[in-house]
Amino acid sequence: MNRRNFLTSALAVAGASVVGGTGLPASGLAAPQIGQSLHTADRPWADIPAVALPAGDIGAAQFPKDFWWGTATAAYQVEGAWNLDGKGESIWDRFSHTRGKVKGAATGDVACDQYHLYKEDIALMKRLNQKSYRFSAAWTRVLPTGAGAVNQKGLDYYSRLTDALLAAGIRPMCTLFHWDLPQPLEDLGGWPNRDTAAKFADYTGIVAKALGDRIDTWAIFNEPWVFTYLGYGSGVHAPGKTDPKLFLKASHTVNLGQGDAFRAMKAVAPKARIGSAYSMSPGEPATDSEADKAATARFHAINNVWFLNTALRGKYPEGFAGGIPEETMGIQPGDDKRMTAPLDWVGINYYRRTIVSDNGNPTAIPPYTERPGSEGPITEFAWEVWPKGLYDIVTTISNEYNKPIIEITENGCSYGDTPYGPDHDHVPDQRRVEFYRGHLAELARAMRDGANVRGYHAWSLLDNFEWAEGYSQRFGLTYVDYRNQKRTPKDSALWYSKVAATGRLDA
Ligand code: GCO
Repeated sequence: MNRRNFLTSALAVAGASVVGGTGLPASGLAAPQIGQSLHTADRPWADIPAVALPAGDIGAAQFPKDFWWGTATAAYQVEGAWNLDGKGESIWDRFSHTRGKVKGAATGDVACDQYHLYKEDIALMKRLNQKSYRFSAAWTRVLPTGAGAVNQKGLDYYSRLTDALLAAGIRPMCTLFHWDLPQPLEDLGGWPNRDTAAKFADYTGIVAKALGDRIDTWAIFNEPWVFTYLGYGSGVHAPGKTDPKLFLKASHTVNLGQGDAFRAMKAVAPKARIGSAYSMSPGEPATDSEADKAATARFHAINNVWFLNTALRGKYPEGFAGGIPEETMGIQPGDDKRMTAPLDWVGINYYRRTIVSDNGNPTAIPPYTERPGSEGPITEFAWEVWPKGLYDIVTTISNEYNKPIIEITENGCSYGDTPYGPDHDHVPDQRRVEFYRGHLAELARAMRDGANVRGYHAWSLLDNFEWAEGYSQRFGLTYVDYRNQKRTPKDSALWYSKVAATGRLDA
C-alpha cells in the first residue's frame, strides 16, 4: 500500500520571488541557552531578520547567496553494509528480512552502498554545486544493541563522512533518527516504552560529542508522526504493529525523547543548532461545513504539529475533541517540561496536500477522514503534484510559531525515468525538473511573504530504498543501477546544480 494513503484505510477507530541577500549564514546564529525562558519573545530566531523577497515571477526569482542548497538521504535507505563493522540489527533490518513486508522482498542490506561509496557520492554532490547534505546516523552502528558499549567503527564511519563533506565544502547536516530503531530496544517495547526516550538521548549525546566539533546543524527526528503512526498504528512500516493506542504511547515517548535529546546534545555541543524534520501536509477542508473545518484543524494538530507544538510550547495541540487522551498516552506529571525544547530551527518535509473531512467521531484515532488531493498531475507513486501546498504549509508554520528559522528538509517526487541514449548516460526527467521548479517558486513566494527559510533539500540525491515500496519508487536526482551501483545524474540533477550555483529558477 502506498504509505501516504494509509489513514483512511488503516485504522477503524508561482508567482515568486527574490531574495535580497540579507540572509545570515546559518552558522552565525546564536544558540539558545539551556533553561532559558520559553516565552516566544525569547525564541532564538526572534532577533534574526527574515529574508525579504520582492514580488516577481520565476524568471525574477533570486535566492540568497548563502541559501543552503542540498539533498537528503537516510542511513537505511542508502548505506547498505547492514551488518558490517559491528553494526547491530535495526527494526528495518528485521522488517525487510521478514517475508511479505516489503515489495519485491527488497531489503536495505546493500541499498546504494554509500557506506563504501561515500567519497564518490560526495564528489557527485560537489559536481552538482551542493552546499548541504542531510544524512542520518544509524543508531545501531553507534550502539549495536541500542545502549551500552560504543562501536567505535560505526562512529568512525560518520566521522569520515563528515570530514569528506567538509573537505568538499559541503555542510554536513545530521539527522539522529530516521526510523531505524535498534531491534533489541523494540524487543523491550520500542517507542511505546517510556524508557526508550532516555536511551535515545544517551545515543544522541554520544554522536553529538564525537562530531559536534565539526557538525553544527542537527535534526533530532525525521518525521516522528510517520514512524510512530505507520510503525505502531497502521503497521505499514517497521515494526509493523497495528494498535492505535501504541501509536499514541509511542508519540509521547518520542516527544519526551526529543526534549531529552535536545538537552543531552546541547550539554556536549553547546553551539549545535538543533531542530527536527517534520512531515507536514497542508489540510484543506473537503467542504465549507463547520464540521469539515474542525476536522481539518484536528488534522493539522495531529499530522503536522503534534511533535512541534510540544517542543516549542510544552503542550499537545488540540487534536482530539474532548481533550488529549492523557491516560492512554501515559502522560505523567512533569512531562510537559521534559518535552519542551526551544528548537533552533524547524525542518519541513513536504510532499503533498491533504483533503480532510469530518468522520463523525472526533475522538477516534485519527479523528478525521483524509484523502489525497486529485486535481494536479500525479507522480509514479500516485501522489498529486501540488506546489502551492509548500507555500501554504511554510506560511502556516511561519505564522503560527512566530517566524522560526525553517529549512525544507525534504521535497521530491518519484518518476521511473531510466538511462537512455547510445551510452545510457542520459536520463531525461523533465517532469522532475518541473516539479522542483514549481515548488521552489512557491517557496520563494513564501519567503517573499516573510517566511524565514534558510535551506532546501531535495529528496533525494540518489534513487534508494523506499521503505515498504522497496526499490520500486525512484526519488533520486541521480539514477542508480542497483546491479552495479553505477550513478547517472538525471537531467533534473543538472538543472538543480545550476539552481544551486545561481540561486535562480530560470537556469
Ligand atoms: C519520508 C522519509 C524519506 C522517504 C521520502 C519519500 O519522508 O518518508 O523521510 O525516507 O523516502 O519521503 O517517500
